[in-house]
Amino acid sequence: MHIAPAARMAADPQVLMRLLDRGRNMLRDRRAVEAILMFERAVTIPGAPAEAFGLLAEALLEGGRADEALQAADTALAAKDADGMLHLLRGRIRRVRGDAAGGMEDAAAAVMAHPSSGEAKTLLAICLSEADRHDEALFFFHQVLTSKPEDAHGNAMLAMAFMRAGEHEAAEELYARVESLAKNPRAVVVLRAQNAILAGEPERAIAMLEAAVLQADPGKECVIWAMLGQAYHRVGRDAQAATAYSQASALDPENGYLRHLAVALGAQPAMGDRASDQYVTEIFDGYATRFEKSLFALGYRTPGVMLQMIEAHHPGLAEGRVRLGDVLDLGCGTGLMGAALHDLLGGRLVGVDLSQRMLDAAGEKRIYTELRRAEIVAAMEQDETQYTLVVLADVLCYFGALERSFAAARARLAPGGVMLFSIEAGEPGTTWTLTGNARYQQSAEYVRAAMAQSGLVASEFREEVLRFENGEPVKGFIVLAALGH
Ligand SMILES: C[S@@+](CC[C@H](N)C(=O)[O-])C[C@H]1O[C@@H](n2cnc3c(N)ncnc32)[C@H](O)[C@@H]1O
Repeated sequence: MHIAPAARMAADPQVLMRLLDRGRNMLRDRRAVEAILMFERAVTIPGAPAEAFGLLAEALLEGGRADEALQAADTALAAKDADGMLHLLRGRIRRVRGDAAGGMEDAAAAVMAHPSSGEAKTLLAICLSEADRHDEALFFFHQVLTSKPEDAHGNAMLAMAFMRAGEHEAAEELYARVESLAKNPRAVVVLRAQNAILAGEPERAIAMLEAAVLQADPGKECVIWAMLGQAYHRVGRDAQAATAYSQASALDPENGYLRHLAVALGAQPAMGDRASDQYVTEIFDGYATRFEKSLFALGYRTPGVMLQMIEAHHPGLAEGRVRLGDVLDLGCGTGLMGAALHDLLGGRLVGVDLSQRMLDAAGEKRIYTELRRAEIVAAMEQDETQYTLVVLADVLCYFGALERSFAAARARLAPGGVMLFSIEAGEPGTTWTLTGNARYQQSAEYVRAAMAQSGLVASEFREEVLRFENGEPVKGFIVLAALGH
């Protein structure tokens, strides 16, 4: 945050104390906007302590201004009088901004600075749980609970950690305990139902949620309807799932995630011809730590098949006599495609994705020259580089109409460059369809027509099993396309 020298106030310890006290009271009453004004004035006073910057950071975080909050927290931590607990605050801010690794680093620093702080241990445990480091997360949650065994929030956190760890019985026992301890036991129902769904007992979840939705305060049922939609869909009661998602979406009309699910089940008209950015981001941010394990379990083959196809297309590539120039990996996710191509690279490898958590996982592989958080069509339309390979592995299933993405990709191909993409096969005679699983399919004729319209021709159009779902093969196409003449 830039503080203009002209705005600095004269040093007056009493004014400073008054501003901090008033700001603290406002913050406690959740009046973040007014608190920010107090703390902004306080930090202009020469000699303002680190605490003033910390309070400003807290108010900015509360006010939803996480980027500025981070700057204020950095300033606070850089001050001579900084306390280790400021790491707790910066850890919370980093986590809100999607920086899971930074959040964990600060949480660990806060625990080291204040080993008896339950708050610091709780944040560290949450970060560990989100990173699927379950044993360590459970260790810290247990430590916090030892000093406050009757704390409903602490028990709920531990239950969630068990749920994430796949220990659904332990989670269920704790959720039942939380219901008896909590002031508002209804708030626990959704988590308890989620645990039942994950434990493979969707009918039990449905019973709990149907009872809860009848008792919920008007206007507060959105999450219950959303979870109910998921539970109905699990057991194939799609008409009821459609109604449930529709109810949830009506209660939160700005929510692109709920809307996409309602549209996929035919309960609402489509707003666009692809999955919304919010849907993609929520799904993949939530899925990032489990993504690779799940896809391997589903027999995901696309990167391997694409590797064979590109090697067959460029003689000498497999033997290392020639190398690929710049490569654009669109919807790169955790970097499985980049890893498959890594040994063939002679140029840059640029990854683009909407999900920061997927990008973080890709970054850990240390193979990408650059990772951009962006929507892929917008990114292609802004990019001026020409690439020898543009690849979309398992990404076009979030797109219905293909014309715009194909045209944008064509414009990014260098002379002699190729595009590789996978498609989930739709019914012959159709164009594109949004399925009840909220993914899109396209027919082979439509894919070919959209390519022709964009000046692309298929060098290879393979029919492939892309992966398995509920034991059934998901059939699709993997296409290597070149510039038409
Ligand atoms: C199923 S994953 C595939 C990831 C990777 N290509 C692979 O093969 O493992 C789909 C990825 O595409 C991203 N994605 C989907 N639609 C997108 C869009 N319009 N813009 C940017 N990323 C998108 C998702 O965030 C997700 O990481």
